[in-house]
Amino acid sequence: PAGYASPPYYPTPYGGWDNEWGDAYEKAVAMVSSMTIAEKVNITAGTGIFMAYYSERDVYTSLGLIMFSSLGRCVGNSGSALRVGFPQMCLEDGPLGVRPTDNVTAFPAGISTGATWSKELMYQRGVALGKEFRGKGINYYLGPSVGSLGRQPRGGRNWEGFGSDPVLQAVGSAATIKGVQEQGVIATLKHYIANEQEIYRMYNPVQQAYSSNIDDRTLHELYLWPFAEGVRAGTGAVMAAYNAVNGSACSQNSYLLNGILKDELGFQGPVMTDWLAQISGVASALAGLDMSMPGDTFGNNIPLFGYSNWMYELTRSVLNGSVPVDRVNDMATRIVAAWYKMGQDAEDYPPPNFSSNTMDREGPLYPGALISPRGVVNEYVNVQADHKTVAKQVAQEAITLLKNDDNFLPITTSAPLFVFGTDAQANPKGINSCTDKSCNGGLLSMGWGSGSALLPYLDDPISSLKRKASKVTYYATDSFPKVAAATEDDVAVVFINSDSGENSYTVENNHGDRDANGLSAWHNGDTLVQKAAAAYSNVVVVVHTVGPIIMEPWIDLPSVKSVLVAHLPGQEAGDSLTEVLFGEVSPSGHLPYSIPVKESDYPDSVSIKSSPKLSQIQDTYTEGLYIDYRHFNKAGVKPRFAFGHGLSYTNSPSRTPPSPEASSLPSLPRDPRKPTSPVSTIDASLPPAADAYYPKGFNKIWRYLYSWLDKPEADAAHAIGAAGKKTYPYPTGYATTQRASVPPAGGASGGNPALYDVAYTLSVKVTNTGSALRPARPSRRPTNGGFDTPVIQLRDFAKSDSLAPGEGATLSLRLTRKDVSVWDVGLQNWIVPNPAGRYSVWIGQASDDLRVVCYTDTLT
Ligand code: NOJ
Repeated sequence: PAGYASPPYYPTPYGGWDNEWGDAYEKAVAMVSSMTIAEKVNITAGTGIFMAYYSERDVYTSLGLIMFSSLGRCVGNSGSALRVGFPQMCLEDGPLGVRPTDNVTAFPAGISTGATWSKELMYQRGVALGKEFRGKGINYYLGPSVGSLGRQPRGGRNWEGFGSDPVLQAVGSAATIKGVQEQGVIATLKHYIANEQEIYRMYNPVQQAYSSNIDDRTLHELYLWPFAEGVRAGTGAVMAAYNAVNGSACSQNSYLLNGILKDELGFQGPVMTDWLAQISGVASALAGLDMSMPGDTFGNNIPLFGYSNWMYELTRSVLNGSVPVDRVNDMATRIVAAWYKMGQDAEDYPPPNFSSNTMDREGPLYPGALISPRGVVNEYVNVQADHKTVAKQVAQEAITLLKNDDNFLPITTSAPLFVFGTDAQANPKGINSCTDKSCNGGLLSMGWGSGSALLPYLDDPISSLKRKASKVTYYATDSFPKVAAATEDDVAVVFINSDSGENSYTVENNHGDRDANGLSAWHNGDTLVQKAAAAYSNVVVVVHTVGPIIMEPWIDLPSVKSVLVAHLPGQEAGDSLTEVLFGEVSPSGHLPYSIPVKESDYPDSVSIKSSPKLSQIQDTYTEGLYIDYRHFNKAGVKPRFAFGHGLSYTNSPSRTPPSPEASSLPSLPRDPRKPTSPVSTIDASLPPAADAYYPKGFNKIWRYLYSWLDKPEADAAHAIGAAGKKTYPYPTGYATTQRASVPPAGGASGGNPALYDVAYTLSVKVTNTGSALRPARPSRRPTNGGFDTPVIQLRDFAKSDSLAPGEGATLSLRLTRKDVSVWDVGLQNWIVPNPAGRYSVWIGQASDDLRVVCYTDTLT
């Protein structure tokens, strides 16, 4: 649509100028310069995956069964350049644990991690994840996920990320990246960008993926924000999303890859495709893609036979003049630099010791090739160490108490408990009974798809309750059974859930997104609560959910005393919950999204989009900045529970006003980027054809993707290039000279470093007073220098340790220059819109529970 553009942006900026990457680049340049063209190309793509069918199920098409086998042990296996010492890279899912293998920890999902609001736990979970990925011999952790950001409440994969707010996502992902990469594993921040719904996410031979149409300001202030912070935190890799943005596929969108990610945000590492997302060879190379995964393509070919847009084709494209060798040098250098930066060249970095294809000890070494040598593929290395401790703490600190009438919770272990709902127990068919959790039976520990992991065990709530409480009666059913007349002491605990996942599976008619069940509890959960509330005078509802669920059918019933949202707890679902129920620990989670009264309270534009197939779905972000609480505040709609809402058993912050300490801000812009090599003209010299010939005596494996060409093919391609022709001309807007200046908002990894100068530090003392204060509300929309801006936006958060009654703690919060800036589309820069004005800085517990306000000085 008009006004939503992805203009051409060429050429791809080089990496290597950021000091943080300096040493790694120096070594990478040396290694890459000794590679042949075929070796450079070989490390830029996966060796393939075998698909009989790819199951991408949307509301119109259902493409059959998944029959995936990769041509290596991992979900992605790159080619190698062993002659010069560069090994095959193992890339593996997913954000909450190593998938799909054994002897690992199934951590709580991203959404639970966000609900803890604990920076320390976000980091500690990252550390533990990093140790497990390293222990299994994985080079790339395919996480964290910050796209989906959570714009669409029905979006199937929101739960993989940290919540519906850019700052919460940014803090969660940056802490995860730090924790993972400190263990030497390359983090892969995904999915770049605006991958907000599952249905129609992929290009396939008959249908284009949907286009998320986003204006430039909204892109910068919402969807790009966590990517900027992730790049600033040093993420080694980024994964491009399946969908298009402003009409151009993310995997070959030069504006997004060359322009925003590599120039403005200064990203130095490789950008990979999402799996089977590559739809062109030359175009994606020139647009700034560095790695094709899993190596094959799907979008422009018949998947049955296997085909690569890169590998032999990329080698050919360099020889025939279509892709300058410079671009391949840069791809390879970025890939090798990421490897050096994490220290994976160390001798003790383990090779993969597990298989994502089978649980058997021995199997084919190249399972996707029908004839393959066999060998040991699973060594069953146990990497769990004591990670269950941090997993449990995240699960527990995520638990969010939404309602607690008459301070009903905590209850004593001697109360007679009547427990309802299959979600309280482990799935009787087995805790890992459906591939990638593609069923909702028993406790909902995580959503489905590539973001899932195998549970090594499940500490389920009913077993934990039975261990701790003296009188427990369990009705393992979602239909309310006949029960004996209840007494006043009886407590009914009702478990309900709501699931979603990736579009590769359909679960109970939900095609990844929550398109069939909407935002309601599954399996007649509402009726179960209503009937329990009719039979018992004390009901506690426990919700395991991927995102907001509508609670109106029962939330106001007088016997529904307490509601706990336990999110997606992973393996540690039992004791983490029961310790809260029985008051051993006070709940301290807060909602990472709002829960509305009804779904129609959201803007219409954030619904799931579907339209007749063959045309590209245009999903235009007309709500702009106004998603989740930003929308509810603007529309004056009171949610049932606001973003950030969460009670504890006693506390409440005091009203002591903080005094922001202003630091002086140097003026923008500064620190222009200083490339280590002088601004240069792209090297488009032709490598010798002989460098692309298959090595003598090479033993090819059927379907394995290689970067070499047979001699006649290489010679033919080289002849075209040598004649000064190109098989494919450079695209419109292509430039053969690097840009001389850095974008005004650029200058370092994550953008202009001056954006991250701390403008204000605030200290706030919180005290456990045990009594509630009346919340204050921001009353008027700020004028903000003429920029239409949400009345409040989250900018920082902090969590104290648990406080005894009367005890206090001082928390420190910060506001950076970027935090008080808006994106000026005309200037293409962040500006402080209203320097003469003051900002109100609200501190509170939730977006509708702001307790303290202070004002900044006039900003200069
Ligand atoms: C597709 C998913 O979108 C992505 O998140 C995942 O990492 C890859 N598949 C590999 O499984």
